[in-house]
Amino acid sequence: MGELHVDSASRAERAGAFARVADEYDRGRPGYPHAAIDWLLGSDALEVLDLGAGTGKLTAALLAAGHRVTAVEPLAQMREILAAALPRAHVLAGTAEALPLASASVDAVTVGAAFHWFDQRVALAEIVRVLRPPGVLGLLGNAFGTSPPWVARVREILGPPAVQRPGHWPSAEELARLFADVEDREFPHEQSVDRASLRDLARSRSSVAVMPEDEREALLARLDRLWDEEPELHTLGTPHTGAHPEGHTPCGGAPPAGAQARRQAGGRAHALMPWRARVRRCRGLLGGELSP
Ligand SMILES: C[S@@+](CC[C@H](N)C(=O)[O-])C[C@H]1O[C@@H](n2cnc3c(N)ncnc32)[C@H](O)[C@@H]1O
Repeated sequence: MGELHVDSASRAERAGAFARVADEYDRGRPGYPHAAIDWLLGSDALEVLDLGAGTGKLTAALLAAGHRVTAVEPLAQMREILAAALPRAHVLAGTAEALPLASASVDAVTVGAAFHWFDQRVALAEIVRVLRPPGVLGLLGNAFGTSPPWVARVREILGPPAVQRPGHWPSAEELARLFADVEDREFPHEQSVDRASLRDLARSRSSVAVMPEDEREALLARLDRLWDEEPELHTLGTPHTGAHPEGHTPCGGAPPAGAQARRQAGGRAHALMPWRARVRRCRGLLGGELSP
């Protein structure tokens, strides 16, 4: 499996940084579109473990699709937000490397934007242990969508993600030793953002959370300037047409899709940030083992 570009102590420190920015994470990060959950899990209600659940971005989409969800998350600050917002979820403290669940106790395991924080080999063995056949493992993450120029500039200001891994996830070949069917798909969706939530998105990144205060403030000031001064954000004023663009699901509420940015009565702009939810679906436990 791919080597981490940061050592495991630094990885743990960075993962722990989420504790300081749990509220920002919840306000600033995108959710996951229903189409992705439907493709991953089908239409029957399943027993699902959402692992590295954070504040419940993926848990919420799983519950909305009718599944019964156990959310496992190591950080108390993230768990508290999840439990308050999603009382139907069964919330447990725990880590991917030592899951607090009985063997063969869930139909599916989902991991949203978290697998790169795990000790992959140990975590995969644990996931295989708690799955009951046929078993589904879903790895999910959000990448910036095909960018209008203002999103490209946001991306440039935010810089690369904290943990750089050649594969980020275990490879499809590696997973094919454990599951009969491994397939990747992407699902476009959109998130309504404004000046404040764009700051939250930035602050919720572990790379920004661990920056010295003055560096972080400088980065946030650049984002504010972009929001306040970027002509594109002020000229995108297409009136709402009603229909959602094909395949796009707005996550996070607020203004309707169809307009990329629009002025509100108070003069404050919302914009729709395009994302691509990436999903790697692994189905059908084989009882195999990872390569040594
Ligand atoms: C980027 S957040 C993703 C949260 C949520 N799944 C989502 O999609 O928004 C990563 C989460 O993984 C958790 N995490 C880090 N290391 C972990 C581990 N070893 N086992 C389980 N969760 C872990 C962090 O505490 C954090 O809440």
